[in-house]
Amino acid sequence: MRPAVHHRGPVGEGVLTAAHHVAAGGGSPAARCEDIELEELARAVGTPAYVYSATHIRDQYRRLASALAGARHRIHYSVKANSSLAVLSLLRELGAGVDIVSGGELARALRAGYTGSDVVFSGVGKTEEELRAALAADVLLFNVESEAELRQLDRIAHAMGRMAPVALRVNPEVTVDTPHPYTRTGERGMKFGIPYDEALDVARRAVRMPGVSLRGVDMHIGSQVTVLDPYEEGIGRLLELVSALRALGCADLEFLDVGGGLAVTYDDEAPTNPEAFAATIVPQAVTSGLTLIVEPGRYLVGNAGILLTRVLYRKRSGGREYVITDAGMNDLLRPSHYQAYHHISAVRPSGSSATYDVVGPVCESGDFFALNRTMDAVVEGDLLMVHSAGAYGFVMASNYNSRPRPPEVLVDGDRYAIIRERETFDDLVRHERTTPQWSRV
Ligand code: LLP
Repeated sequence: MRPAVHHRGPVGEGVLTAAHHVAAGGGSPAARCEDIELEELARAVGTPAYVYSATHIRDQYRRLASALAGARHRIHYSVKANSSLAVLSLLRELGAGVDIVSGGELARALRAGYTGSDVVFSGVGKTEEELRAALAADVLLFNVESEAELRQLDRIAHAMGRMAPVALRVNPEVTVDTPHPYTRTGERGMKFGIPYDEALDVARRAVRMPGVSLRGVDMHIGSQVTVLDPYEEGIGRLLELVSALRALGCADLEFLDVGGGLAVTYDDEAPTNPEAFAATIVPQAVTSGLTLIVEPGRYLVGNAGILLTRVLYRKRSGGREYVITDAGMNDLLRPSHYQAYHHISAVRPSGSSATYDVVGPVCESGDFFALNRTMDAVVEGDLLMVHSAGAYGFVMASNYNSRPRPPEVLVDGDRYAIIRERETFDDLVRHERTTPQWSRV
């Protein structure tokens, strides 16, 4: 197994990343992803481009799987983090299932070779069509988030002559600290999950419904959760519910789904240690007698990816030094949307550092990757890596400013493959009509 590599830069020391520097022939060190020179790759595929390390994804998966070995468990990759078909396929070969939140993600998972029994269907607003499609695909579990959804699922399943396997997603109402409020889900009053004090009543009703079979309990407390206490506390609350359900004679419970949320390193934060995570949750799972389900997204792919971008221009304004890159907020939204930190370094560092605002070409002042950042000094034409961009990167990209979305490239050892082509201008207008074709209802 190739060891995880450390990138060393002027800031973000020790960022665990898919790219690393190697000294090349006495010259200045140039960064590689696995065995591929990123300068050459950029010449071949152009910029901006997402680049993912297959080896890093495999290493992360295997480490988590072996950490959880003490419990009967299933790893359901959270497709929303990076839904590329090739990434899904790679994880399927490792033995993963998937956690999906839409009909589109179901279609992707099936396209990538998963079957219904590999699928857990989460999400707060599943439509009738999505529920039907998931029933037809025979998914393993519906993580139901409200009584209204439960009734809808019961009605549809019953009409289709099916029994929908259900876990109640309960809001455990624990305190969760994540870098941004938008990525917290398990606190009181949030839109996600069934409020804790209503869960037992909803479960009682579920047991009486002809179209659903209550098979488990579920939570997802948030994303990029760097501490383990809320898991322990949340699982404790789920297991209280399980005991109450068993006391009511509910014998079919099979699954304890604890969601995702495992943290990776963006700056200097400690990532979730899979062994410590397992030590926290495995004993509880074993005692419960249930099969443990985890739904990691970011942990598996976050540090497997970089966004490669070229410096278009340097500019000075009002005492600020700007680096203008050919990637923008439409390509990687996280810095703008969550004020998220992403380490940025030069593929061929000059050896000196400077302080910049790194911004994109999009016509918004919020289009930035870093503000007031001390990093490798760069000149026009230099190639940069925006690190830790494998999760919630491409999937959140848009065509804003009519910018074609970048390609995605998978690297494995000394090989690379374009797993998604760069979009073309034709792609941008493919579903549009210049002349409206009017209809009347
Ligand atoms: N399960 C459920 C039900 C979820 O809602 C999520 C993420 C996951 C699992 C996976 O969480 P992870 O292991 O990746 O933390 N766009 C944000 C993150 C949003 C996460 C939404 N739910 C970001 O860029 O930070």
